[in-house]
Amino acid sequence: MSIYAKVKTGIPGLDSIVSGGLKQGRSIVVSGSPGSGKTTFGLQFLHVGAKDFDEPGVFITLAQNVEDIKNDCKSYGWDFNNLISKDKILMIDARPFKLNDQSIGKDDSLYRGEQIPFEHLTKLILNSIKRIDAKRIVIDSITVLEMQYSDAFYIRQGLQGLVQALENYGVTSILLSEVISENQISPEWFVSSGVIQLRHTRKQDTMERSIQVIKLRGVRHSDQIHLVELNDEGLRVMHPRFAP
Ligand SMILES: Nc1ncnc2c1ncn2[C@@H]1O[C@H](COP(=O)(O)OP(=O)(O)OP(=O)(O)O)[C@@H](O)[C@H]1O
Ligand SMILES: [Mg+2]
Repeated sequence: MSIYAKVKTGIPGLDSIVSGGLKQGRSIVVSGSPGSGKTTFGLQFLHVGAKDFDEPGVFITLAQNVEDIKNDCKSYGWDFNNLISKDKILMIDARPFKLNDQSIGKDDSLYRGEQIPFEHLTKLILNSIKRIDAKRIVIDSITVLEMQYSDAFYIRQGLQGLVQALENYGVTSILLSEVISENQISPEWFVSSGVIQLRHTRKQDTMERSIQVIKLRGVRHSDQIHLVELNDEGLRVMHPRFAP
């Protein structure tokens, strides 16, 4: 029997394969290839948390702009504007490159490749947590942060500091991580307390989605690769033994 506060993921079928939910206050990496559902996973985790569990959440984007994210969510019927207006959700654009007036011609910061140091991002996140008393955090993606640096030790220490700060604040965080090759293991896999892998792979003449819990410290979890359905309501984990 385990006794720890469990955070419901909001992904139907997922909690039951991780002993009822994620450990509160931990950082979990969700890895996947392009289009595997990483951003959807993060947004669903925040949407359900804010709407059904009264747990405010912060979404930090280092990839897409906030308007596009909110717009793409309409595909799942999630209304983030309403939650943002009630201070239940904060969406923070922390991209190193910002374009003004939708034009790269008017702002050359894209070409300058401005960096965002780990400690600045950590401060930005901690301020956001305080603003809405957040319990859930999603960073999309941690890979963009790491790409800025070539020094592996610097990346490892930066990640360690970020994870430590998030855990000190007691927030449960999802760090989205881009997988380029299945053979590659990223440093955040070691630093975080859990790793969940999303896959989008070829099956005969179509594509199939699946999910696998690779590690989850202190939690009994399924070792199977479970099929995943992605539809108008978001992600859902399918498994034969339990009803989702
Ligand atoms: N309503 C829907 N029903 C089924 N599938 C959908 C729906 N809306 C979006 N999708 C699928 O979800 C995919 C996008 O998932 P998502 O953006 O979460 O992936 P990602 O892993 O974040 O990708 P990237 O690496 O590009 O950031 C789309 O490519 C599309 O295939
Ligand atoms: Mg994405």
